[in-house]
Amino acid sequence: MKKIYFAGGCFWGTQHYFAGVDGVQEAVCGYANGNTDNPKYEEVYTDATGFAETVMVSYKPERVSLEELTDLFFCIIDPLSLNRQGHDEGTRYRTGIYYTEDGEREPIQKIYAREERKAGVPLAVELEPLRNFYPAEERHQDYLDKNPEGYCHLPLKTFRYLRLYQDLRLFLGEEEDTVARMANAAALIQERMHFFWTGFYRADEKGGTLVLGPFQGPAACMRIGYGKGVCGTSWKEERTLVVPDVHEFPGHIACSSLSQSEIVVPLHGKDGKISGVLDIDSDQKATFDETDALWLEKIAAII
Ligand code: SME
Repeated sequence: MKKIYFAGGCFWGTQHYFAGVDGVQEAVCGYANGNTDNPKYEEVYTDATGFAETVMVSYKPERVSLEELTDLFFCIIDPLSLNRQGHDEGTRYRTGIYYTEDGEREPIQKIYAREERKAGVPLAVELEPLRNFYPAEERHQDYLDKNPEGYCHLPLKTFRYLRLYQDLRLFLGEEEDTVARMANAAALIQERMHFFWTGFYRADEKGGTLVLGPFQGPAACMRIGYGKGVCGTSWKEERTLVVPDVHEFPGHIACSSLSQSEIVVPLHGKDGKISGVLDIDSDQKATFDETDALWLEKIAAII
């Protein structure tokens, strides 16, 4: 068993998240890298002790790697926000990764550097050896299990996406046929997230169109031109498009009049070119945001 310490803002949400990661044995709320002994929550809360709300993650390295854990950590923080995550502000809510063995720095650093390149500016996330860690009071442990309606600075769909992403990876395994992978991905996404329409379009480069692939939901348009509709625009611009109101999107293709909002995520082929898109529709307006974009991009990357 190995241990790594993540400070990701309010520890209630961070603990609940890591407790749901496959290969994690235990996630414990506590206080790390401060200047006193045995701090109480009330003392840490004053911001005078220097402690950060931190989660000790005990994991089985043969089931989940430190790189993978670090990657998952970056899915739940704003790495550019200094001493603030969500509504929580103060040095106790700073973000940090604290390790106990020198050799752990390199795998963490690999993901850290990738995130920094993506951001284009230095991250506000500490990467330091662990100096001290004190488990928090019992009432803070498994807080969201004990209080399902309790405060959480993370969007609740984060926890559903984490489960979906992990299950999908296991389910798709080593299968090499892309259509088979798409078919089960569409089924699992739909079953878990209850969207109105979930499906794939594959890029037919010669024809310059997207052609309908495996999907769940009502019958849909079979071909969409390059640069046309939300799907064709996502292909052309090679980026995820979140459309809060399809009626406001110039050129939107209405396969169903019930569709109100939409997200389209491009799929990158092995040659780096766009090989298709993942298209999800909702019958409600403004269903999708950056949380959906982040997780659906992770899912698109394993199709
Ligand atoms: N609305 C999409 C077309 C596909 S359907 O949503 C299934 C678009 O504008 O590209």
